[in-house]
Amino acid sequence: MSNVSRCRVCGGTVHEFFDFGRQPLSDAFLRPDADFGDEFFFRLATGVCESCTMVQLMEEVPRDRMFHEDYPYHSSGSAVMRNHFEQLAKRFLATELTGDDPFIVEVGCNDGIMLKAVAEAGVRHLGVEPSGGVADLAATKGIKVRKSFFEEATAAEIVADEGRADVIYAANTLCHIPYMESILNGVTALLKPTGVFVFEDPYLGDIIERTSFDQVYDEHFFFFSAQSVQAMASRFGLELVDVERIGVHGGEVRYSLAPAGRRTPTPEVAALVAEEKEREIADLATLKAFGARVLKIRDDLTSLLEKLRGEGKRVVGYGATAKSATVTNLCGIGPELVEFVCDTTPAKQGRVTPGAHIPVRESAAFSQPYPDYALLFAWNHAEEVMAKEQEFRDRGGKWILYVPDVRIV
Ligand code: SAM
Ligand code: TMP
Ligand code: ZN
Repeated sequence: MSNVSRCRVCGGTVHEFFDFGRQPLSDAFLRPDADFGDEFFFRLATGVCESCTMVQLMEEVPRDRMFHEDYPYHSSGSAVMRNHFEQLAKRFLATELTGDDPFIVEVGCNDGIMLKAVAEAGVRHLGVEPSGGVADLAATKGIKVRKSFFEEATAAEIVADEGRADVIYAANTLCHIPYMESILNGVTALLKPTGVFVFEDPYLGDIIERTSFDQVYDEHFFFFSAQSVQAMASRFGLELVDVERIGVHGGEVRYSLAPAGRRTPTPEVAALVAEEKEREIADLATLKAFGARVLKIRDDLTSLLEKLRGEGKRVVGYGATAKSATVTNLCGIGPELVEFVCDTTPAKQGRVTPGAHIPVRESAAFSQPYPDYALLFAWNHAEEVMAKEQEFRDRGGKWILYVPDVRIV
């Protein structure tokens, strides 16, 4: 009999379809001299709700273990993402934020990558960000930040202090939050009747299509689709009024929700829901087939790395992503197969990766000297990274990719 849990959106029965095994916190980079015996592990497994189709983790990690003063993910580390969010801020400023004294709230503003342009335009805004270190970085950019977790009580405090919002926005954050009832009650309390709640997160349809299994880690609790978001919205008096497929982070969807009956849904909503039903993306059989492909990638990648080690080749990891924790721990990849991982984030450098304990070094280490192969953990930034590292390829270096399958390019 398959393992079951209760859906964190509707209370329905969630059926497990893949077990990633014992996994660490994906962003808990350890000091090399730390007592590894104290490292936190949990069982990472995914399931699908038979009632509302929401794909989600079977077990939840307490939020304070993941989001705290030292949370090391800095959104502004990517030039492509800086541009992505600046364009979106300009769009909000030209559309939703043109009324009298408009107000936008961003949930999970991180280092202020999106709100920076809003603050510079002099528009009233508030970032809600529980991770103190990145919240402080946002504040240094002139952004107003509230250092707390967004939930129903936080929304009520914001309404009391600032009034209701024209836009509530969240990027790569809503899928991190299991307590959805509190979040959506907060959203409905905080949003003006004319307002819109916009969020963008990795898209289940793309994860299945690309077998991008490393999108599954402690922080990614939900894997949204138009179908599941539509069902979720309707439970809270909201309506899915637009969907937009976007290319960042390996394929995402930007969902727009409005109070029910306030806006006419665009044709894209019905079209994406129909496409998902046609593809049967929430079917247990589809999801189990995804799991089988993950196991093949695991076997192919470990065989390749072991073969390269046998040939005496040097392999280095590129990008100490949260995603890479799932890959290294599922495949059993340690420092004997991948010498080190280079990363631009100062808070990760000089540490070792969670669970696998591969040293993380500064970006400059990549070329001193160049390895024979680079395992691209930051595959979602492939274009930006490969352009920056053209010299590596010019000198005969090769990239190893593992989604949608294991390849050397
Ligand atoms: N929006 C940024 C982006 O897209 O690059 C940051 C994404 S980061 C992966 C997720 C952020 O959500 C973290 O900065 C984390 O501290 C924050 N977060 C987690 N739970 C939250 C909550 N309940 N309320 C507000 N922010 C939260
Ligand atoms: P992400 O895939 O969650 O956005 O994380 C990307 C990680 O890769 C982050 O730790 C920063 C790092 N990185 C580099 O080291 N070099 C780069 O050029 C880019 C774009 C990211
Ligand atoms: Zn459900």
